[in-house]
Amino acid sequence: MNYKDDIIISNKIPYKEKIYMGDIYMKDITYKYPQSEAKALNKLNLYIKKGEKIAIVGYNGSGKTTCTNILMGLTSKYEGIITDGQNLINLRNSISCILQNFAQYQMTIKENIEAGFAEHKFTDEEIISLLDRVGLKDIVLKLEKGIYTQLGQLGKGVELSKGQWQRLAIARLLANPNATIWILDEPTAYLDPISEIEIYDI
Ligand SMILES: Nc1ncnc2c1ncn2[C@@H]1O[C@H](COP(=O)(O)OP(=O)(O)OP(=O)(O)O)[C@@H](O)[C@H]1O
Ligand SMILES: [Mg+2]
Repeated sequence: MNYKDDIIISNKIPYKEKIYMGDIYMKDITYKYPQSEAKALNKLNLYIKKGEKIAIVGYNGSGKTTCTNILMGLTSKYEGIITDGQNLINLRNSISCILQNFAQYQMTIKENIEAGFAEHKFTDEEIISLLDRVGLKDIVLKLEKGIYTQLGQLGKGVELSKGQWQRLAIARLLANPNATIWILDEPTAYLDPISEIEIYDI
């Protein structure tokens, strides 16, 4: 592997530090897609402290999405271990995510956000407050049907721009206050640089 193939993790791995409950430690993760000869990940080590925000940076094809898919339990049959310091863990239930090809649900704006936290019944005010946090409030309130506007190309739906869809996906993520782990795969790929800075501050 040369340096161009490696992914770069924004934090350092404190090998000697104790791993506490709620931390995530991926150790020596190696993964090869069944239909591929080359390894998508080769002995990746990733340590995330509870509460820490980290960025995974790397060239296209360096393994960022593969790494997050493994963490989310979407990809199995990897070598190596994932631990929270005590047991092998299944993180799936505590994870909220925006995938690289995030879903653009063909339903109303309100339903799109509610999908992020199905157990909760949202008031209109809660939905508007979430839209406000991702900078969509003004745009949505200008629509004739507001948060009840049907989205998508199907039927008579209003189509959002890629960046607006992405903001909506972030509002869906914020809708679930119980998620303890957030995984965002290229969450700002469609956002202009100013929007990108705004979103990282949420
Ligand atoms: N479904 C798949 N089947 C076979 N190989 C795959 C598959 N998905 C990814 N790969 C390979 O695994 C490697 C890592 O891909 P991955 O999608 O994790 O990279 P990435 O860093 O997320 O790239 P990008 O910046 O383009 O999103 C690549 O070499 C890619 O060709
Ligand atoms: Mg990717």
